[in-house]
Amino acid sequence: MATTTLMRRSDESRSVRSGVLTMAASNQYSAQQNKGANVILKTNQLRVYYGNQLTIKNVSASFLENRVTALIGPSGCGKSTFLRSLNRMNDEIPGCRVEGEIIYRGINLNDPQANVFDIRKRIGMVFQRPNPFAKSIFENVAFGPKHHGVKNKQLLEEIVEKSLRKAALWDEVKDRLHRSALALSGGQQQRLCIARALAMEPDVLLLDEPASALDPVSTGKVEELIGELKKDYTVVIVTHNMQQAARISDYTAFFYMGEIVEFGETTQIFTNPQKQQTEDYITGNFG
Ligand SMILES: Nc1ncnc2c1ncn2[C@@H]1O[C@H](COP(=O)(O)OP(=O)(O)O)[C@@H](O)[C@H]1O
Ligand SMILES: [Mg+2]
Repeated sequence: MATTTLMRRSDESRSVRSGVLTMAASNQYSAQQNKGANVILKTNQLRVYYGNQLTIKNVSASFLENRVTALIGPSGCGKSTFLRSLNRMNDEIPGCRVEGEIIYRGINLNDPQANVFDIRKRIGMVFQRPNPFAKSIFENVAFGPKHHGVKNKQLLEEIVEKSLRKAALWDEVKDRLHRSALALSGGQQQRLCIARALAMEPDVLLLDEPASALDPVSTGKVEELIGELKKDYTVVIVTHNMQQAARISDYTAFFYMGEIVEFGETTQIFTNPQKQQTEDYITGNFG
């Protein structure tokens, strides 16, 4: 189970977990959101700095299991920065510093003892531009499991097929698994990147504008896929496309200047926003 591999000291994780329950009860967002589903991931007073520049300003937000949460807001408001912090991807950016807690199933991922390798296995990420490796379709999907020690050929074949099926790509590529991934269309490449993330058997998927570089048909396929994926995964997706957020998400967080202005059920955010700034943004009267 994730809790044992993410932290070396399980007693610490237990005490963290009981702390999370108290925090969840007092969290304004989880109180509104939680209708039977579990909070699987949450931030508590998250701050992200680039050098001295405070870019994410004490954001506390909860994400429910098997739900899609969309992060919307104007360009530069911090959506990608926030998303990257959720699986410690900001560690890779020189000068970037993250403070506060990121609680995943009771474990604080922002703890120096947390194992980043395992975190990224449990919390996968897909970026805006499809970034398949210059390898075959098969090797792209098998890459992660191989890296984590899976050697058995038959098992790898099973993982590859299962992941490609889940990413709704199998039928299109099953006859050319050993051809280069770079020959696929942009939309297929993006589903391949989703398959690559799924091959690690993640729990949470972070998607940063996964369809913004795609044509409408491919976008439709990726949106449909996200609807399927939430049966098995928790999805947090950044999108600048409000129609897309309205179509595919259960919850929406509106970010502005490094803070969450409003977070609620997607239908409520889009039909009955409680904050003037949210209303101005979704109606296009922003600025
Ligand atoms: N690697 C970086 N170094 C310094 N500043 C950055 C970096 N990445 C993003 N920023 C700044 O942080 C702010 C938020 O950016 P970002 O998270 O990319 O916003 P969004 O995804 O909402 O467009 C912007 O002002 C941006 O210029
Ligand atoms: Mg961004």
